[in-house]
Amino acid sequence: MRNTDIVPMVWLSCALAAIAGLLFGMDIGVISGALPFITDEFDISTAMEGWIVGSMMFGAAIGACGAGWVSKSLGRKKALLLAALLFFAGALIAVLAWNPSVLIIARIFLGLAVGVASFTAPLYLSEVAPERIRGTTISFYQLMVTVGILAAFVSNLAFSYIESWRWMFGVLMIPAGMLFVGVMMVPNSPRWLASQDRFGEAREVLTKLRSSKVEVDYEMKEIEQSIEEEDKNQGWALFFSNPNFRRSVMLGIGLQIVQQFTGMNVMMYFAPRIFEMSGFQGTEAQLWSTVVVGLVNVLATFIAIGFVDRLGRKPILYIGFTVMAAGMAVLSGILAIGPTTTFLQYTAMTALLVFVTGFAMSAGPLIWTLCAEIQPLRGRDFGIGCSTVANWVANMMIGTFFLTMLDALGGPVTFALLAIVNLAFIVFTLLLVPETKGISLERIERNLMRGKKLRDIGN
Ligand code: BGC
Repeated sequence: MRNTDIVPMVWLSCALAAIAGLLFGMDIGVISGALPFITDEFDISTAMEGWIVGSMMFGAAIGACGAGWVSKSLGRKKALLLAALLFFAGALIAVLAWNPSVLIIARIFLGLAVGVASFTAPLYLSEVAPERIRGTTISFYQLMVTVGILAAFVSNLAFSYIESWRWMFGVLMIPAGMLFVGVMMVPNSPRWLASQDRFGEAREVLTKLRSSKVEVDYEMKEIEQSIEEEDKNQGWALFFSNPNFRRSVMLGIGLQIVQQFTGMNVMMYFAPRIFEMSGFQGTEAQLWSTVVVGLVNVLATFIAIGFVDRLGRKPILYIGFTVMAAGMAVLSGILAIGPTTTFLQYTAMTALLVFVTGFAMSAGPLIWTLCAEIQPLRGRDFGIGCSTVANWVANMMIGTFFLTMLDALGGPVTFALLAIVNLAFIVFTLLLVPETKGISLERIERNLMRGKKLRDIGN
């Protein structure tokens, strides 16, 4: 019988990776509150606003592209240290930014950081946590992203009283510093050490992370075996040689594009603007409402965590997309007739919250889970890397072009389009997404590699 007590060092390592999730969320959340003040100070065009928002996601896409290489060659620990430094630098440059171009550079730094962190932190978590708490730690990481968004919304509100968008960015230096100091204290990933042929060190580290020698021996053997497997074929080579792997990579990319095109980040980046359109006047009222959005986002994530292994992935996605479509349709309708009464204003706000609930209980956490589950072991890093990059590229398109689209088409049409897109995602899920509840990753891999239809690889 293997002794599987969880030693404190594991909790420390998990807590630390969770700080990376927190920074991810804060990076997403900070701009919605800062943007109105930035626009006032620099007197910029709508297109420039879009670039200020989108530059972070541009940096993140590049960061996520390079993250695989950085975390492989330098190791997970140094990759996270680099992310912490980039976060710190980005926040500092934003505090000092003397014109919009400098602010864009700051946002690119913040993006690079979040791109590296959003790839490396979950990977590090899955490599240091014992198997039986692995699922929980990944969900916890997702939860921390939403907590980070909420923290940024609250800090935005606080600093709005002194009208300082600079300090909204400045506070990011605190968690960045915590991440840096924290990473210095935790060990490197034993799996990475082993992949560098540093087996002695890997065993030493594993001894700190596990409670018995039996466990250490068992896991070392597993690591050695999986490294042998990995060496056979991986990444690009597998992508070019194996059409079945190409299918899972494309599905991962598709899933992340779907996640972003639900329009969730429209709410994350432009909530105050949407509240303004819905008749809520004054920055303070808009920022308070945005905090409520952040809170609902955190709370609804628990629904997903609670039901994902009971109801299954697909039913939750169907419910989520339907709820999101309903929220967008109601918002579009109210904007079409004009939010003239208090009743209509609050109905618009409720519609927005319904939409956010729909996302947080479904596509938010589930898409990340599915993207990891559908990739075969031999190409997992590569497959997850591709879908993470797709997430940020699609995110950038939303952040950069949404305002321009809103200007061109107007609120009612824009939100009606989002409602239709969410309905279309129900069909996407029906036709392409497998149900992966309660099935081993090895079985999914076998089905995929045998050429089963994507939607059937979980059967
Ligand atoms: C998405 C982010 C989004 C966040 C909102 C994540 O799953 O990838 O783009 O901002 O959820 O909670």
